Amino acid sequence: MTRKIGVVGSNMVDLITYVDRMPGPGETLEAPSFEIGCGGKGANQAVAAARLGAQVMMVTRVGDDVFADNTLANLVRFGVDTRHVRKVPGRSSGVAPIFVEPSGENSILIVKGANADLLPAAVDEAAADLQSCNLILMQMEVPTETVYHTIEWAARHGIETLLNPAPAAADLALERIRHVTFLVPNESELATLSGLPTDTDAQIVAAARFLIAQGIRVVIVTLGRRGARLVTADTVVEIQAVSVAPRDTTGAGDAFIGSFAHFYVKTQDVLASLQQAAVYAAHSITRLGTQKAYASAQEFADFRQTHAPDLPVI
Ligand code: RIB
Repeated sequence: MTRKIGVVGSNMVDLITYVDRMPGPGETLEAPSFEIGCGGKGANQAVAAARLGAQVMMVTRVGDDVFADNTLANLVRFGVDTRHVRKVPGRSSGVAPIFVEPSGENSILIVKGANADLLPAAVDEAAADLQSCNLILMQMEVPTETVYHTIEWAARHGIETLLNPAPAAADLALERIRHVTFLVPNESELATLSGLPTDTDAQIVAAARFLIAQGIRVVIVTLGRRGARLVTADTVVEIQAVSVAPRDTTGAGDAFIGSFAHFYVKTQDVLASLQQAAVYAAHSITRLGTQKAYASAQEFADFRQTHAPDLPVI
């Protein structure tokens, strides 16, 4: 049986400037290079899963501008089902000016554009197709009401969901997301959501457990070069990061989530899927850009062979 992933989320045009250093207030600096790429947390996650061979459909909105057709063509090129991608008349596409420093560290601004028009009705319109998904992924670059609606709709239909609460939204109502299956914040998003400190490992576990006490089944905290923590009501498991020389960390979290989704729908094994996802995310930061950095199944297999040879193939 083919298992399918749905993404109800964002797409952006990434305007990436590689800088020697960030300018200070009032300062003009020359930067060495610039690239335009297809990004957005939702589309990135969709493409990462599709690159590994998953069947993926996306519910998203593009603008009425020069970027829209390219975004659509890019999703099609990666094999993502775009039947529920619509253009919004009179709106710009979502754009993300991004600055990447020589260390690979990134700073991102987002302008939601047409992503702000992905309303709950879009989920109802796509319901017949979403119903055949085994896992639905969401992020916070679309209206919060749409995220709530998707989680509640999916719970009523017995479909598992994953929410990546990025960018962090302090006003996210925990009682409206408590039916989500997987919550995947980084440590600062976890602090925002829980209202608790996340400076130490013990604090991270306590903050994740606070969210689990609200009804969320599984919290997966991404910690960059420190890997990730899988936290449930009765277990904490450390997912080790793979050490690489980073060139561009932009979209690494999305690579992690999209690849986790692929392996999870294939195996239903959370821990094994997270271990594969940590390797996939590490590979993504060895290349520049977001979606164009993501490995195909073969590239991933080669990278795993050299960087995580003891990890079983799943
Ligand atoms: O997570 C990385 C993504 O965040 C970028 O692709 C950018 O578009 C923003 O959405």
